[in-house]
Amino acid sequence: MLQVKQVSKIYEGKIAYRALTDIDLTIEDGEFVGIMGPSGSGKTTLLNMIATIDEPTTGQILIDGSNPHQLRKEELAKFRRRELGFVFQDFNLLHTLTVEENIVLPLTLDGKKVKEMKQKVQEIAAKLGISDILMKRTYEISGGQAQRAAVARAMIHSPKLVLADEPTGNLDSKSSKDVMGMLESINKNEHATMMLVTHDPQAASYCNRVVFIRDGKFYSEIHRGDNRQAFFQKIIDTLSLLGGDGNDLSQVRV
Ligand SMILES: Nc1ncnc2c1ncn2[C@@H]1O[C@H](COP(=O)(O)OP(=O)(O)OP(=O)(O)O)[C@@H](O)[C@H]1O
Ligand SMILES: [Mg+2]
Repeated sequence: MLQVKQVSKIYEGKIAYRALTDIDLTIEDGEFVGIMGPSGSGKTTLLNMIATIDEPTTGQILIDGSNPHQLRKEELAKFRRRELGFVFQDFNLLHTLTVEENIVLPLTLDGKKVKEMKQKVQEIAAKLGISDILMKRTYEISGGQAQRAAVARAMIHSPKLVLADEPTGNLDSKSSKDVMGMLESINKNEHATMMLVTHDPQAASYCNRVVFIRDGKFYSEIHRGDNRQAFFQKIIDTLSLLGGDGNDLSQVRV
């Protein structure tokens, strides 16, 4: 599904900054992979390059065997809209629109029929438990509901690859578990491949595998197996070995 090959990223500027060095990462179809590491270790940089928002300085990123960075601008926009789904920490919902209008946005941009959109939005809203807030504006709903709306928007077009950057960063423990449970079930039932960047070991424990990076380099990876609680503990242990900004463990929620 996804191959990151020897990818490095240097941010040019007054002082050039090397954010990633020789990252190799393969994600199989239907896998749910977490990316963890201290603040500034390069997680968002990596996600942005996979999301085709930014380009690697060296190395290659292949999605389903082809390199989206080689597409022309309009083709790239279409690729991003059709094949990828995004969930961000700050939800990125448009406040002038209702929840429903936000969710169908990717379909609207693709000129899909209203009837088809209505049906899809009903299906996905039911799955995510937000059917009764579809007509509300985004400032009339809670953070957890907003995040579920953002998940719905990311999933409405059945993307091949869902990329989430701190999707539970603004949520309380209960909403966070709900959102992660939903991502997990969408991953299982719709076979969507997912990559999740997070500081939150609880959220990461829903993944099949967690890859740790430090100072822009691969550090280690661990696999879940069938015990999420044991996996959660392994994640905490790895984070404490990894060190970081001291912030990471303050976010632990059990
Ligand atoms: N546009 C940019 N120009 C220059 N340097 C950047 C840019 N974006 C990020 N960096 C630097 O690259 C490094 C990696 O940043 P990145 O955002 O990928 O970290 P992160 O792992 O996502 O951190 P956090 O957990 O705090 O979100 C940081 O040191 C950051 O300051
Ligand atoms: Mg980040």
